[in-house]
Amino acid sequence: MIRTGRLALALLLAASVPAAAQTPPAAPETAPIQADDARMLPVLASHGMVSSQEARATRVGVEILRRGGNAVDAAVAVGFALAVTLPRAGNLGGGGFMLVHLAARDETVAIDYRETAPAAATETMFLGPDGEPDRAASTRTGKAVGVPGSVRGLAEAHRLYGSGRLSLADLIAPAERLAREGIPVESGLADSLPRAQGLLGQWPSSRAIFFSGDRPLQRGETLVQRDLAETLRAIAEGGPDAFYRGPIAARIAAAVRGAGGVMTEADLTGYRPEIREPVRGSYRGYGIVSMPPPSSGGIHLIEILNVLEGFDLAGMGAGSANALHTLAEAMKPAYADRATWLGDPARTRVPVKGLIAKPYADTLRAAIDPERARPAAAVKAGDPLPFEHTETTHFSVVDAEGNAVSNTYTLNFSYGIGLVAEGTGVLLNNEMDDFSAKPGARNAYGLVGGAANAVAPGARPLSSMTPTFVFKDGRLLLVTGSPGGSRIITTVLQVIVNVLDFRMNLAEAVAAPRIHHQWQPDVMLAEEGLSPDTLAILRSRGHSVKVGASSGSANSVMWVDGLLAGASDPRQRGTLAEGY
Ligand code: DON
Repeated sequence: MIRTGRLALALLLAASVPAAAQTPPAAPETAPIQADDARMLPVLASHGMVSSQEARATRVGVEILRRGGNAVDAAVAVGFALAVTLPRAGNLGGGGFMLVHLAARDETVAIDYRETAPAAATETMFLGPDGEPDRAASTRTGKAVGVPGSVRGLAEAHRLYGSGRLSLADLIAPAERLAREGIPVESGLADSLPRAQGLLGQWPSSRAIFFSGDRPLQRGETLVQRDLAETLRAIAEGGPDAFYRGPIAARIAAAVRGAGGVMTEADLTGYRPEIREPVRGSYRGYGIVSMPPPSSGGIHLIEILNVLEGFDLAGMGAGSANALHTLAEAMKPAYADRATWLGDPARTRVPVKGLIAKPYADTLRAAIDPERARPAAAVKAGDPLPFEHTETTHFSVVDAEGNAVSNTYTLNFSYGIGLVAEGTGVLLNNEMDDFSAKPGARNAYGLVGGAANAVAPGARPLSSMTPTFVFKDGRLLLVTGSPGGSRIITTVLQVIVNVLDFRMNLAEAVAAPRIHHQWQPDVMLAEEGLSPDTLAILRSRGHSVKVGASSGSANSVMWVDGLLAGASDPRQRGTLAEGY
């Protein structure tokens, strides 16, 4: 593993130059500034690479690769480790999506381990007495909790696609150790705990773990999670059934009902992940393979890329007003479509083929004015049917054989509803908020949902999670994905465009400022870092630009000249890409 420190070195040298020189300083002759000195560079390795949002979990994954595990083994170990080291998003009590590429079989499969609605869930359960959505109920109470999918999802990934050289217990052991021995509160954990004080503080079982006295643990203190260690040991010894049946399942169901929810032990026992066909598209000759419904991510990523394919983004230039205007205008109709067409494929027919058809994108592209922003009200969901021919975290892993995993999983909000099921150490999600409380209602991310995404017993709420692979000539090139709620899709989109159109290296592609437009609200969110004149041009074209929102954590891996390049997202403290 090599991390280039030339930029840091250059800054250090610059700082050591005396500040008040009598004569104007001569131009340096001996150390000309190299183009690379101003560039962020990815981490390089030749055998395997893990890029995740938390350094200890990354190292757990690299260790599994070194011990002969494949990318799936490493990903499963990272998944369990993040449940301990990144408790705001890594989880046992949530769910997610894993894309697996099996090099020897040249096959890519999607594992859907999204949470499901309990059997007693009803379509109107998130409406208050006034018939309006009750946001508190869908985010802060037991009703918010979907039946967790992570444990069965990770175990199924290992059973079906692991190397066979390591047992599930081998993959869980590092996580159990971290939970039992404790980890220092630092980096992202130290940043997130104070922000979650209100959420965690309302539940005694959570305070017992994450608080010292009446305040959250602080930087420098130690987070020990003994109950979580016991739960992990039980799963290591008994497999996923130890979580979905018996005392742990009973405790989870009791905790949810105690908080006003309707989940039963039978809901947990009945939970099953689904193995799905990924959605596939192409962009300028590259293959795009991503997550199908019940995530909207893959469909809308491909839909937007299809629209962008008709524009010369590279000629416009990265970060230019023209490129950002084009991106925003391409994003709007995709989010309008999402609000109308997307839901759990088990309950609603999603017109996938139409939404990702190139001719459909032609109709969307034709409606874009290169000079003027369209108000959201002027953008309606399209009609893809005629084209129908036939606080989340993401990590990426690639192994020496070329197998790869792109995994995004979540509790929805940071720390979910903040409730640890007493005696289990398991934090519970608030994924039920991803359903639409009623047609046209917005969820916590401002996303409008349609009837296709109504609450129903056993249904999976619509997601934006977008674990993705990009292929070149049939060979895997890029593994990426991100958290960020509704901004996940546009984050993944911009990593891809930055690499393929703007030829940025992976570290730059991940770090570059991003924009986001989700149709409604009619606002272009822009991260810090765009030039004032760019923002002025965008505003003059009619965009309502709001600067400041930071988007995502796109921990990614890419092949470059036969080496693996890893980049973790600098937007979060404590992220790490590491290989060997
Ligand atoms: O599935 C979804 O789309 C959301 N529950 C994801 C939430 C998320 O990314 C929060 N993280 N920043």
